Amino acid sequence: MRPVTPRSGSDPGGHCRAALSRASQHLPGAEGRQRRRSPLTGGSRLPAGIRRPEHLRTELPSFLVPALLLALRSPPRLEPLGCRLLCCLFCWHYFYRTFIYPFFTRGRPFPLQLLFFGTLFCIYNGFLQGYYLIYCAEYPNDWCTDIRFTSGLLLFLLGMGINIHSDLLLRQLRKPGEVTYKIPQGGLFTYVSGANYFGEIVEWFGFAIATWSLPAFAFAFFTLCCIGPRAYHHHRYYLKTFTDYPKSRKALIPFVF
Ligand SMILES: NC(=O)c1ccc[n+]([C@@H]2O[C@H](COP(=O)([O-])OP(=O)(O)OC[C@H]3O[C@@H](n4cnc5c(N)ncnc54)[C@H](OP(=O)(O)O)[C@@H]3O)[C@@H](O)[C@H]2O)c1
Repeated sequence: MRPVTPRSGSDPGGHCRAALSRASQHLPGAEGRQRRRSPLTGGSRLPAGIRRPEHLRTELPSFLVPALLLALRSPPRLEPLGCRLLCCLFCWHYFYRTFIYPFFTRGRPFPLQLLFFGTLFCIYNGFLQGYYLIYCAEYPNDWCTDIRFTSGLLLFLLGMGINIHSDLLLRQLRKPGEVTYKIPQGGLFTYVSGANYFGEIVEWFGFAIATWSLPAFAFAFFTLCCIGPRAYHHHRYYLKTFTDYPKSRKALIPFVF
């Protein structure tokens, strides 16, 4: 891997990369591959055999909290149709992440510390997004035909498609029981190392546009800050580990970064 230290004077891109590298060590996403792999930082871990319920426990509140809020709301529960669809989209993502995704991952055990903070975040965010959509948001009856709703919905679905497909490609890299890392190939991995992260970020920015709400924009921004640096770390790891890693592949945004 080439060092990211800036060369003297004339390389502003080098300065940016070095600054990002230093800053990203302290961002929430820096716990990606390196921290999970490091015996020094990993802390207590759940045994590998019970990895699947980790996602179930962490992400479940993001599905359950809005679903409960909705059930507790006296009728009319969610009007108009656009608002109902938005709430369903949020729940659908977390239904997938809680009940489907864990059953097709082949990963290492998660540090307990991450599990704890992940669960706290999901409770908070599930409540924030659910409460806003169910109790606070007011949309016109024709919100479904508004350009913000339609373009946001398209972005959400596109991002979700990329995210699910990329996670599937990652899963296919390992045989059962394997824990080694390989070079991801195909799909959006042709262009970026963090294809699954890119999909997730597009998805939540799409959601933010479709809901046109501050909580959703805040969540999209949080997602970017959380998994953007993780994609960058993965990218550096690949470059350092694999001499034949495609040089034209970017970290997170195709052709750009
Ligand atoms: N919205 C948010 O703020 C947020 C935050 C975090 C995650 N997420 C989403 O949750 C999902 C999982 O996140 P993550 O950070 O666990 O993703 P990840 O590091 O890419 O890992 C996903 C799975 O693929 C395996 N894997 C990754 N790279 C591999 C390679 N090169 N060769 C073989 N196997 C590989 C991992 O194994 P290991 O476990 O052994 O590394 C893990 O089981 C993603 O879709 C992400 O977008 C969202």
